[in-house]
Amino acid sequence: MSQTPTVTLSHGSTMPRIGLGTSPMNDADAERAVSTALELGYRLIDTAENYRNEVGVGRALKGVPRDEVFVTSKFNKKWHSVEGARTAFEASAEKLGVEYLDLLLIHWPNPDQDRYVDAWRGLIALRDAGLVRAIGTSNFKPAHLQRLIDETGVAPEVNQVQLSPVWAKAAEREFHAKHGIVTEAWSPLGKGTDLLSHPTVQELAKKYGRTPGQVVLRWETQQHIVPIPKSADRGRLAENLAVFDFNLTADELTALSDLDGTAKAPADSDRAGH
Ligand SMILES: NC(=O)c1ccc[n+]([C@@H]2O[C@H](COP(=O)([O-])OP(=O)(O)OC[C@H]3O[C@@H](n4cnc5c(N)ncnc54)[C@H](OP(=O)(O)O)[C@@H]3O)[C@@H](O)[C@H]2O)c1
Repeated sequence: MSQTPTVTLSHGSTMPRIGLGTSPMNDADAERAVSTALELGYRLIDTAENYRNEVGVGRALKGVPRDEVFVTSKFNKKWHSVEGARTAFEASAEKLGVEYLDLLLIHWPNPDQDRYVDAWRGLIALRDAGLVRAIGTSNFKPAHLQRLIDETGVAPEVNQVQLSPVWAKAAEREFHAKHGIVTEAWSPLGKGTDLLSHPTVQELAKKYGRTPGQVVLRWETQQHIVPIPKSADRGRLAENLAVFDFNLTADELTALSDLDGTAKAPADSDRAGH
């Protein structure tokens, strides 16, 4: 089994450059999919308080030594305070059956509530305490990130956003790069769009003898974006991991980037209730 390449985050942790997304999966589905993924060599698992599957994910995690897997969770807007972040961490760690998390994210900025800077201070305290190895955000726009930096002097290590060739977010990625923030992609296969059947993707798949999903995941990984595709199918799990042994040309990367904006409005599928 070949090892997944890694990226070093700004505070020093090492994160695999592709992972498994676990939404939507219940505890039983998550236990099954995560176990299979770990068997296949996945070493980054993405869950969240909101997915209600941390117990199932945790059961599967027992199958590998703790220090060999990078575990990410996220917390809801209810916990946007310094103490709240600590409570959210404790709840996730207990459900997952782990003593520390590799990465904890604020799931959404919820600017209407305007407490995400307090949540961020809570994450900084958790990292200082060694309970969380890396800290980050999800669905934060550059203005939200800038505010965190201005008010705390600490930039997130990762920002997880909806991203694929049809939502390429070039300006956001540029902002991330400038501040040492790794871009993680949710819906990296363009869920809810016809990305995988687009002729540009299909032609490249044919040219390289790969699947459309692999072409799209290569567009991401080749540009240092960390995708977390979700699959509950053993074949597709294996396929999604095998994207580091071919390279798209610069023109092909551009042709895929040109699909930006061709899909309907972003799904923002798991925003509700956060
Ligand atoms: N931070 C956030 O706010 C947020 C929001 C949404 C999602 N997420 C995270 O991101 C993860 C991934 O996003 P997502 O699930 O929305 O979208 P996605 O990974 O782009 O797409 C998943 C869908 O594609 C199918 N699929 C997987 N591999 C495939 C392949 N190689 N070829 C064709 N189809 C394939 C899956 O079905 P099968 O299972 O049948 O393979 C599933 O229906 C989630 O699981 C979650 O962890 C985060």
